[in-house]
Amino acid sequence: MCGIVGYIGKKQAAPIILDGLSKLEYRGYDSAGMAIYDGEKINITKSVGRLKVLENLTRGGETMPGFCGIGHTRWATHGVPNDTNAHPHFNADETITVVHNGIIENYLQLRQMLADKGYRFVSDTDTEVLAHLLDYYYKGNPLEAVTKVLHRVEGSYALGILFADCPDQIFATRKDSPLIVGQSDEGCFIASDVPAILKYTRKVYYVDNQEVVRLRADHMHFYTVDEEELRKDPVTIEWDTDAAEKAGYEHFMLKEMYEQPKTVTDTLMPRIKDDDIVIEELHMTDEELAALKKIHIVACGSAYHAGVTGKYVIEGLARIPVEVDLASEFRYRDPILEEGSMVVVISQSGETADTLAALRESKARGFKVLGIVNVVGSSIAREADNVMYTWAGPEIAVATTKAYSAQLIALYLLAMKIGKVRGKIDPEAFSAMLGDLKCLPDQIEMLLNNKLKIQKFANRYVGAKDVFFIGRGIDYAISLEGSLKLKEISYIHSEAYAAGELKHGTISLIEEGTLVAAVSTQPELYAKTISNMVEVKARGAFVLAVTCEENKAIEKAADYVIYIPETNPYFANSLAIIPLQLFGYYVAVGKGCDVDKPRNLAKSVTVE
Ligand code: G6P
Repeated sequence: MCGIVGYIGKKQAAPIILDGLSKLEYRGYDSAGMAIYDGEKINITKSVGRLKVLENLTRGGETMPGFCGIGHTRWATHGVPNDTNAHPHFNADETITVVHNGIIENYLQLRQMLADKGYRFVSDTDTEVLAHLLDYYYKGNPLEAVTKVLHRVEGSYALGILFADCPDQIFATRKDSPLIVGQSDEGCFIASDVPAILKYTRKVYYVDNQEVVRLRADHMHFYTVDEEELRKDPVTIEWDTDAAEKAGYEHFMLKEMYEQPKTVTDTLMPRIKDDDIVIEELHMTDEELAALKKIHIVACGSAYHAGVTGKYVIEGLARIPVEVDLASEFRYRDPILEEGSMVVVISQSGETADTLAALRESKARGFKVLGIVNVVGSSIAREADNVMYTWAGPEIAVATTKAYSAQLIALYLLAMKIGKVRGKIDPEAFSAMLGDLKCLPDQIEMLLNNKLKIQKFANRYVGAKDVFFIGRGIDYAISLEGSLKLKEISYIHSEAYAAGELKHGTISLIEEGTLVAAVSTQPELYAKTISNMVEVKARGAFVLAVTCEENKAIEKAADYVIYIPETNPYFANSLAIIPLQLFGYYVAVGKGCDVDKPRNLAKSVTVE
């Protein structure tokens, strides 16, 4: 979802901005643009389409000289993707320009107010209002104009702003949309995310809500929305740029799938100590954990699917009721949170607008929120009471794989820890489970190495119209994620169904040759799922089964079987999801889809 990059310093700005924007492509976008101050005036080049178009238009930035500029990749919200709606946006006399990520909720009201004062609008965007509003308030002091605008606008924003009158400065600010600033010997930077500037600096400042930054070539100053100066400490980014590069893989998604053994190890091992699970970040005593009466898990997308698995695992192992909610539903449904409840929000990016809002809603009601988050220093990580990080490193492909796998591990650890302190898991079983957890990385590796078999199978389905995924219990949760992986990157319609529910309507969609992927990893449900497979097969379906090695009986009902190695059934998701991720990936590759950047999707959904 929209990406912002800005630079002011000793070097030519445009190539640095283009390079930074290319590192933000994963966020999803439909147009791109740059504004550069050339020593006399601000020039803008922008275009609908891929960043390549902007690169070609400016010959890699060459045709836009200047040492100060802002750039943007736009993911359309207000107004169709076209050249005019692309950012940056100007005021009328082209002396103030803005790039924006987020949504200005009261833009219609502001637009009317400005129109009444004679301002004319050329685009359909909410952002253009900001350029004119800055113009309206600008009386020679840019900081004052910016803060006045912040007092007027409602909604979410990360902004980069240039004033032609003050060409030695960039202004940046944010509320509920991500923004960082960084500094090196060569200049100062703004960006929506760290990978955009990591090549140039590791010294980064996380901008807090409604803080304003004034960047100059060699220093920057932070201010409150009331123009009081603030002191902030930088954070040193420890991870490497390699982590955000493809490293020889055809796609980020494939690379990230291959990183899953490491991701699982990194999330798991630091929390296993002396045959026990220690989750220091919870900041809860065993007594407090044991006293929990209910857990609410809230998330979006794949993180929600991890949460659905978490419900089965926590309820099964810790015997505590768990409710799982989509964050966009939770925030508006006036949820009943009872005394003794803990809220767990799960998010890779830590910036998902609905998840953040659910977190705030829970905190406002006096409940402690645990964040299971991947991006260090993200909004959710900063606002949650406690944070359990998933150590997946930067995830670039829009369709999540490794972060999802890490979320599962965090949930298993939580479930086992609570189960143990509540006396629901005996020590022997606990040790055996720890043993199973430690085997997961090697088992995942083994499944990944089976990719050719899955690629061959996937090639048969590049022309599929519909694919159904079915399973019961945890297998239903796995199906939800398997189905999402396929549809989001291959654009093939797919649905996940609780296997027993299929006959209440959906089975009428099964035709000769329709692919049904049946997930069956829970021994007590093997026979039940086989019955459902037989039902769809009888109606012409081709049945792919993903099951455990011991379940050979499934071969009678399946047309094609993928076996996963033996593990504790509570952890089967971590293994069964691997062939399903590979399947989705290879179908999308076979169809020639833009696997890492599927149409219409964004990695970090910072608007509701
Ligand atoms: C987007 C991404 C999904 C992700 C979801 C939640 O839709 O494309 O892959 O699962 O957002 O994102 P989060 O960052 O909160 O995990």
